[in-house]
Amino acid sequence: DKEVKIAVLGLGVVANGLVENLTAAKEKIKQQTGLTFSIAKVLVRSKENKKKQAEKHQLVLTTEFDEILEDSDIAIVVELIGGIHPAKEWIAQALQHKKHVVTANKDLIAQFGNELTAIAEENNVSLFYEASVAGGIPILQTLNSSFIADEITEIQGILNGTTNFMLTQMTEAEISYDEVLKTAQSAGFAESDPTNDVDGWDAAYKLMILVRLAFSKDLSLNDVQIKGIREITQTDIFYAQKFGYQIKLLAQAEKVSGEIYAAVSPVLISQTHPLALVKNEMNAVFIESEAIGSSMLYGPGAGASPTAASVVTDILKIAQNMIDSSQALQMSTSDLPSCKIHEEM
Ligand code: HSE
Repeated sequence: DKEVKIAVLGLGVVANGLVENLTAAKEKIKQQTGLTFSIAKVLVRSKENKKKQAEKHQLVLTTEFDEILEDSDIAIVVELIGGIHPAKEWIAQALQHKKHVVTANKDLIAQFGNELTAIAEENNVSLFYEASVAGGIPILQTLNSSFIADEITEIQGILNGTTNFMLTQMTEAEISYDEVLKTAQSAGFAESDPTNDVDGWDAAYKLMILVRLAFSKDLSLNDVQIKGIREITQTDIFYAQKFGYQIKLLAQAEKVSGEIYAAVSPVLISQTHPLALVKNEMNAVFIESEAIGSSMLYGPGAGASPTAASVVTDILKIAQNMIDSSQALQMSTSDLPSCKIHEEM
């Protein structure tokens, strides 16, 4: 049996979910892959603050990234600290040290995904980020597989759990904007700065990642028209409903005469459209494509366990690649014709 050692950067909501998911799935993963995954080190800002969590799961904490970088037994680094700096530098260094990287960092991947992917390719390692878009929905791997031979013409997504939760609660429970934002924050869906959620930035980052995969086009944040939900009132919601609509923060990207139009904004969606049925922290991605026609993926877009499940999927994909390439290596060495090593003098 082989052991794959993982380091985790950060010990917040998703990292805790990851520790729990990996522990719960340990036996199943071992049976299916023959591999045991262990979390060798967790990088935290203060060991004291995370002492209880560390004891509960027997985690080894460190405050020095270099300790992880220089540990050659660590094969996979999972980045869950978020933000651009120092996440970007640490991911780049990990890749340069031939470690595979899994991240849930949408801000970073939206803006620097291409640069980091190039570093991964140069170093022959993987950089996977399934958890960065729509939490638990396997949308990136679906775009990378099922739609490869298809031509996507339009994407419409509910990509931010916090705002969808807020709009749903404002519709169903008639709770005020401020109250419901607090609930989303305490439920752990909201970003540390909820401005990113309510002003549409978070959905815009996720849309940029989808556009890169769906349309092979690298957008900058300036290319996306962004409007959040701050100005939506309960009166707006009441009248929208009365006339047969739901208000949703929709992320849309469309090919218009060869160019990509991308926007995030609150829109009226007919109550009969499948996207109108996506409630609370759920996310969905509705895709129009030439071959398939209309299709939709639906699932939880935020929360510890669903997001961690996507991180685990990436870890397993890396492990599978490691097994495949070591088998290929074994095959190619056993295929070598035996040769005379010593020259006769
Ligand atoms: N703040 C994000 C959301 C978390 O509400 O969707 C998941 O990316």
